[in-house]
Amino acid sequence: MAARIALDPAFVVADVDPRLFGSFVEHLGRCVYTGIYEPDHPEADPDGFRKDVADLVRALDVPIVRYPGGNFVSGYRWEDGVGPRGQRPTRLDLAWRSIETNEVGTDDFMAWCATVGTAPMLAVNLGTRGVEAARDLVEYCNHPGGTYWSDLRASNGNRQPHGVKVWCLGNEMDGPWQIGHKTAEEYGRLAVETAKAMRWVDPDIELIACGSSHHRMPTFGSWEATVLEHCYEHVDYVSVHAYYEQRPADRGSFLACAMDMDGMIEDVLASVDYARARGKHRKRINLSFDEWNVWYMSRRAEEPVWTQRPRLIEDRYSLVDAVVVGNLLISLLRHADRVRIACLAQLVNVIAPILTEPGGAAWRQSTYHPFALTSRYGRGTVLRTVVDGPRYETSWFGDTPLLDAVAVRHDDPDELTVFAVNRDQHEAQPVDLDVRGFGGLTVVEHTTLSGDDPDAVNTADDPERVAPRVLGRYPVDGGRVTVSLPALSWNMLRLR
Ligand code: AHR
Repeated sequence: MAARIALDPAFVVADVDPRLFGSFVEHLGRCVYTGIYEPDHPEADPDGFRKDVADLVRALDVPIVRYPGGNFVSGYRWEDGVGPRGQRPTRLDLAWRSIETNEVGTDDFMAWCATVGTAPMLAVNLGTRGVEAARDLVEYCNHPGGTYWSDLRASNGNRQPHGVKVWCLGNEMDGPWQIGHKTAEEYGRLAVETAKAMRWVDPDIELIACGSSHHRMPTFGSWEATVLEHCYEHVDYVSVHAYYEQRPADRGSFLACAMDMDGMIEDVLASVDYARARGKHRKRINLSFDEWNVWYMSRRAEEPVWTQRPRLIEDRYSLVDAVVVGNLLISLLRHADRVRIACLAQLVNVIAPILTEPGGAAWRQSTYHPFALTSRYGRGTVLRTVVDGPRYETSWFGDTPLLDAVAVRHDDPDELTVFAVNRDQHEAQPVDLDVRGFGGLTVVEHTTLSGDDPDAVNTADDPERVAPRVLGRYPVDGGRVTVSLPALSWNMLRLR
């Protein structure tokens, strides 16, 4: 029997904040050096940024990019990265045990953002530093002029303020691996005092407090509630981070890990809303899911230490991983009312949709495709999407739906897009789409990411091995159409 999805234009979840399609550039491995920046590369622009990479980033359509970390930021002195390149210090980066030359810093990143057409989202160091360094950085970036830090920015070639709107108050401060790890009480106090000072410099900024690093942290839930007891009125978002990988011989569970993302979002919101009720606050705090992806942490091998631009965490993504990434995007869209910012971690080389070779090619991993298409067609209004269909058993989730989907409506042009995954590894699944509430529609495009080899990956020599295929257009008869979703697939149906 076919699964059924009934959609109605009146059942609206929320408008999508385009920042849901953000990404992340960290000083980690080769994300910055030989990733976005490689001055000796034949494709380098006059600022040293790779034009081939910039083209791929532009086509990915990421409206906001988080920088400079990640764990890196918790040991970072931002002042090291501004001013004449030749005078910038080389330092030990304790987070990734690498050598950081500071060839790229805040002003350079701003120039790159302008080149690729994205907005910066900066994290401040609340590991080894605190209120003063954070408020100085806001002054450096956003104050118009006539003060020490804003004039320094101007003398470094940037008369106009950078106007950075979104700021992260540290990174994963609940994690023992973090430089300057803190208890919830310690972090909550530091976050509120830093937030106050940063906003006194620029009242228009938006601030993100650190939530839990992952769902299984021992302090998950209580961390958010305690931190917000201190800083609820001073922040706008709480961060959420989640990474997923396939455990040996359990592809069925991995394919459904968007269920964990759904649960995590709902659990964090429960803590956030508890803090709201407890503190008798009026405003609502939303979520910034500012690190998410597939990450094969269990495959991490011995890594080089104290080298420049080491090859760290350069996961190769398969078709299965791309289907999962597409499904995680469905989960984010489903929660568009409360998840307003999200960042695919990361953008280039490090657990990334784009890979490069130093001096060589740049190409798209399998995961690039569902991200690019969802970013392009997933903006508009999310509709409540209930999938009634077959189920299967998984060891992580027990009784699990075989299909997952979300629908987004757009005004201009007037279109409805349905993103859907089929988690069945062997069989195509028919889906009966009921769109009677919309008037006459046609399925103008069914694009799928599927194939014979779930483990296929894209390489520099075969960069299109995993790529989307257009299956066709179908008429919609009396407001209903049955579409077949290939086995183990991510799909996009555009109706007009
Ligand atoms: O994205 C890689 C790392 O994952 C980040 O530096 C850290 O915040 C997280 O643990």
